[in-house]
Amino acid sequence: MAVIHNQTQKNIKDVILKDQFHLKYNDKINLGAFYTPQRYVNIVWQMIKPFIDEKTIVLDSSCGYGNFFDYNISCIKKANDIDIVACNQTKNNFPQIEVYNKNALFNVNRKIFDISDNDELIIIGNPPYNDTTSIIRNEIKRYPIEIDSDIKTRDLGMSFLLSYAKLNAEIVCVLHPLSYLIKKSNFNLLKNFTANYKLIDGVIIDSGTFKETSKGISFPIIIALYIKDIRGMDYNYILNYKFTTIDKKSFSLNDFDFISNYIDKYPIKNVKHNDTDILFWTMRDINALKRNRTFMGEFGCNTIIVDKNKLDYYIYVDVFKQFSYLIPYYFGNLEVFINNELFNKYKDYFIYECVMRNNFLEKHISFNKNISLQKANEVIIDYFKSLLGQHYVY
Ligand SMILES: C[S@@+](CC[C@H](N)C(=O)[O-])C[C@H]1O[C@@H](n2cnc3c(N)ncnc32)[C@H](O)[C@@H]1O
Repeated sequence: MAVIHNQTQKNIKDVILKDQFHLKYNDKINLGAFYTPQRYVNIVWQMIKPFIDEKTIVLDSSCGYGNFFDYNISCIKKANDIDIVACNQTKNNFPQIEVYNKNALFNVNRKIFDISDNDELIIIGNPPYNDTTSIIRNEIKRYPIEIDSDIKTRDLGMSFLLSYAKLNAEIVCVLHPLSYLIKKSNFNLLKNFTANYKLIDGVIIDSGTFKETSKGISFPIIIALYIKDIRGMDYNYILNYKFTTIDKKSFSLNDFDFISNYIDKYPIKNVKHNDTDILFWTMRDINALKRNRTFMGEFGCNTIIVDKNKLDYYIYVDVFKQFSYLIPYYFGNLEVFINNELFNKYKDYFIYECVMRNNFLEKHISFNKNISLQKANEVIIDYFKSLLGQHYVY
């Protein structure tokens, strides 16, 4: 009889399920339960294959229905999920696999999965990624599950990465938002992981290709291969890393000149504002820019007071938002970037396009009235073609 460690067995349905049909939408959000398509699972196994022999233990500590074990290779396979129905389904789909039903973030150590210190451990999977402090959908995002204090962060997925370091895995090959690596504040939160692991391969995929998550704006997910390395990696390593997408496009963060080199992205605390100020919404990444406003009427804790000497750069950001449909999903978590020389050459057209949509700017900036909107659009599109090169979205 198939055993699931730690829980009594419930009825197992007699079908192969690959999506988490049993969860209601809110539970899916809370558990981050969006299951991985086979084509991505195959990429993971291709990456870890060189490191596997028959004695290697391959663990998915948040296995869902066990999609990651739909691959024919000999090694010891272990699966775990906090959700008993998912565990039952994994056992049903893959009877030969050891299945555990534990909270993978609590009391993290090898023993809970019957793994000894001498075992070669590879961790695979697609852990839940959820901002546990998110205010956006706070009413449905609740994660009342206990997490070891040394791996507690604001995002479940980052806690999972830290748990892999705690399990002292030799190799980690998982899907996670690219933002964990490229946003410096996230990278810093992952210190215990990044101090011990090095990214050696990675493929970027589109979150929109997961059936359940395609509702919002797409963001980049990386299928990342990490190897244990006592030198770890610092943020400079990430800045220079050549990222590759599933469609074979590649880029490094160091390729870009970012808008924060020209203007402040965040509000300055305790400043007094007056009626003649121009106000602008806080700038985060490109995906946030797509969702948020730019120029705005009312002052609040998220508003920047525009330095009028640099108004042209705020105009740039506003136009960038307008044309952001030309930017591919994999740049969604970058901040706004710029080719400063080219922008200065075409600046009149940016200003014209922006003023036509934001008439109040007329009194703050002089602009060339002899430009047509059609011409401005053409020039701006040419600018984006040149800025983006192979990444331009047709
Ligand atoms: C994104 S799904 C991935 C499932 C599977 N790895 C796949 O890709 O098909 C995340 C899974 O993590 C599970 N989960 C969430 N929190 C967990 C925890 N603390 N411990 C173990 N599993 C957890 C959810 O129940 C869900 O099945």
